[in-house]
Formats: sequence, C-alpha cells, structure tokens
Amino acid sequence: MTRLSVNINKVATLRNARGGDVPNVVKVALDCENFGADGITVHPRPDERHIRKRDVFDLRPLLRTEFNIEGYPAPEFIDLVLKVKPHQVTLVPDSPTQLTSNSGWDTKTNLEFLTEVLEAFNTAGIRTSVFVSTDAEMIEYAAKAGADRVELYTEPYATAFPKGKEAAVAPFVEAAKIARSLGLGLNAGHDLSLENLNYFYKNIPWLDEVSIGHALISDALYLGLERTIQEYKNCLR
Ligand code: PXP
Repeated sequence: MTRLSVNINKVATLRNARGGDVPNVVKVALDCENFGADGITVHPRPDERHIRKRDVFDLRPLLRTEFNIEGYPAPEFIDLVLKVKPHQVTLVPDSPTQLTSNSGWDTKTNLEFLTEVLEAFNTAGIRTSVFVSTDAEMIEYAAKAGADRVELYTEPYATAFPKGKEAAVAPFVEAAKIARSLGLGLNAGHDLSLENLNYFYKNIPWLDEVSIGHALISDALYLGLERTIQEYKNCLR
C-alpha cells in the first residue's frame, strides 16, 4: 500500500494571510485524516511563514496517522524534531529563504553532516528520509549516511509528464530499483497531482508514501477536501 501524506503548509499560508485562526490548521489536519489521509506532513521554516513551531506541538498529540516533519536540519529544526518525535523526519536541503524545495541533497558532499544528523534521529527512534534526485550516486550515499528511506524529488517527473509520460517516469523507476536494492524505503513528492500520480504509482507500485500539498489543496477549492483526498487515494490503487 502506498500511503498518502497530506502536506498542510498551504493551509497555514492561508491562515497566516489574515493573522487569525481561519482556517484552523489542526482541524484541517484531523479532517484530512477522517477523509482518508494516511499521514500529515508539515515543513516548519525558521521564518514561520506557513507552519509555525506552535502548530507542530499542537498537532503531535492529536494526529492519529503518521506525522512527517520535513525541513533543513539546522540546530533549531533538529531540536524541534527531537522534542516532538514524529514518526518520520524528511531532510530537505533548502535554504530558509527558498520559496519551496527545488533540489535533492548532494548526499556525497554532505555525507559527514547527514550521517551525524541521521544518527541523532535514528537514536531517538524517528524514521528518517532524505530528499534526493534520481541520481544513483545520491541514493547510494543516502544509504551510506544511514537513511531509512529516500524521498524522490518528483518535480522533473511532473514537468516532463505532459510531453511524454514514459520518458518522464523512466529515471524514477531506475532510481526506485536502486533504492530497493539498497534496502531503502521509498517516498516521493513535489508537484504530484491528480493528472500524474496514478501513472507514477503504477510504474513504482512498491512506493511507500507520497507527500502532496500544493496540487491537493488547490484541487480542494473545486472538489472539496473530502472528495479530493478520496480521488488522490484512488490514484494509489
Ligand atoms: N516533499 C518535500 C520534501 C517538499 O519540500 C514538498 C513541498 O513542501 C513536498 C513534498 C510537497 O510538494 P507539493 O506541495 O508540490 O505537493
């Protein structure tokens, strides 16, 4: 089964636009779970421009599904994750000012740093995932660093999909096979949508989890959250 983790950053962005508590991030997360999501993902950033530290603490005791916290492992982030102890932490190489993650880690250059950080999370019993491109060497070094899983950065797949889906998915199938041969679990995320998700899943059915935010929350404007989540779940069957 491939799990659907709903990234709720955009819900926090909407809330922050008015400074109040509408929409309520915790309520939306719990509703996502009720509507069939298998997990909730958040990406707290140092500037708190969407998810705030407070949200992370508020969500932890209330969520009934998998909680995934993603972000750049700066000392403050590491401290937050070790305090909150989510089910999974996903390490992303983005700078604090970046609009959104736009590349995977260079796991070779950052081997020492990643090994140290992953060790801290592994010791705390938190499953670890490292955001990577489809480059075989990057996946191999993620395994060397001690990651439990890799999350494949799927933006290149989403961009190439309309021009030719077979060519778009091919490097991801290869990368997924490498991850599997190394004993790594496999996640995927970025720009996955109702258009491109099912084809990705059909080609890599051993995928453990997808993490989806932007397209899903946008679809919910038209379809409503409940139907949207069900439609994404249908793409994973
Ligand atoms: N995975 C990671 C590591 C991300 O940084 C993001 C964006 O926050 C996503 C998945 C979800 O991407 P999208 O919002 O395009 O679905």
